[in-house]
Amino acid sequence: MQAISIKGLRKTYSTGTQALKGVDLNIEEGDFFALLGPNGAGKSTIISIITSLTRKSEGEVKVFGTSIDEDPDKAKTYIGLVPQEFNFNIFEKVIDIVTTQAGYYGIPRKEALERADEIIKALGLWDKRDTMAQQLSGGMKRRLMIARALIHKPKLLILDEPTAGVDIEMRLGMWEFLRRMNEEGTTIILTTHYLEEAEELCRNVAIINKGEVRLHKPMKELLESGKEKLENIYLEIIQEAKQEK
Ligand SMILES: Nc1ncnc2c1ncn2[C@@H]1O[C@H](COP(=O)(O)OP(=O)(O)O)[C@@H](O)[C@H]1O
Ligand SMILES: [Mg+2]
Repeated sequence: MQAISIKGLRKTYSTGTQALKGVDLNIEEGDFFALLGPNGAGKSTIISIITSLTRKSEGEVKVFGTSIDEDPDKAKTYIGLVPQEFNFNIFEKVIDIVTTQAGYYGIPRKEALERADEIIKALGLWDKRDTMAQQLSGGMKRRLMIARALIHKPKLLILDEPTAGVDIEMRLGMWEFLRRMNEEGTTIILTTHYLEEAEELCRNVAIINKGEVRLHKPMKELLESGKEKLENIYLEIIQEAKQEK
């Protein structure tokens, strides 16, 4: 089963910016997938389209076989999204932010509380359960976003730059958590411009630049492909694109 299947995806914003210029991408169920690319490459645009937050201009997107055009609500229930920007109410308590989200999916209050407590514990936020979100550190806010995204037990977790602004120790903890989620069967897609993050976590990687997929391979192959490190390949692709301009 394909978790995500994207064909001929194009997006031109109303400003005239061509953010996606025909993206084809398949991501298998169970994968830990990195969407890697520099700022402005089109990573967040792809994710906004998959999650029906932004309209595509052209192309086809399916989430676990369900077309986002035919049944966007069903497609959305498969996905837990951790967006790039914090978007919770900072004056709400941690536990309320997570359980309110459960309400959107019709999860009964009692079950929502049980699930929320479990997830909050797993993410190391237990002692912040009744704290106002405003008082959390950057890393804790990011983990709160992850907790909220997981409340309806999505098959696919999408994280947009999850470790931006998160300190090293917190980052390692988050990596461990995500690895465990993936081992337990959740498909994970993350976008990052940190090479080491993709290298560390992901089995497959697509490098995207200027709205096009420039390379799509198993991480293992990439690392073995003769160049010392993915870093060289990454820089080369970005460089190539600059020269073509
Ligand atoms: N809402 C928007 N309106 C107009 N242009 C946008 C919008 N969002 C993103 N863009 C542009 O689309 C391109 C891709 O952006 P984005 O998908 O955010 O890239 P990334 O997430 O890889 O940094 C950039 O040129 C960006 O300026
Ligand atoms: Mg982005």
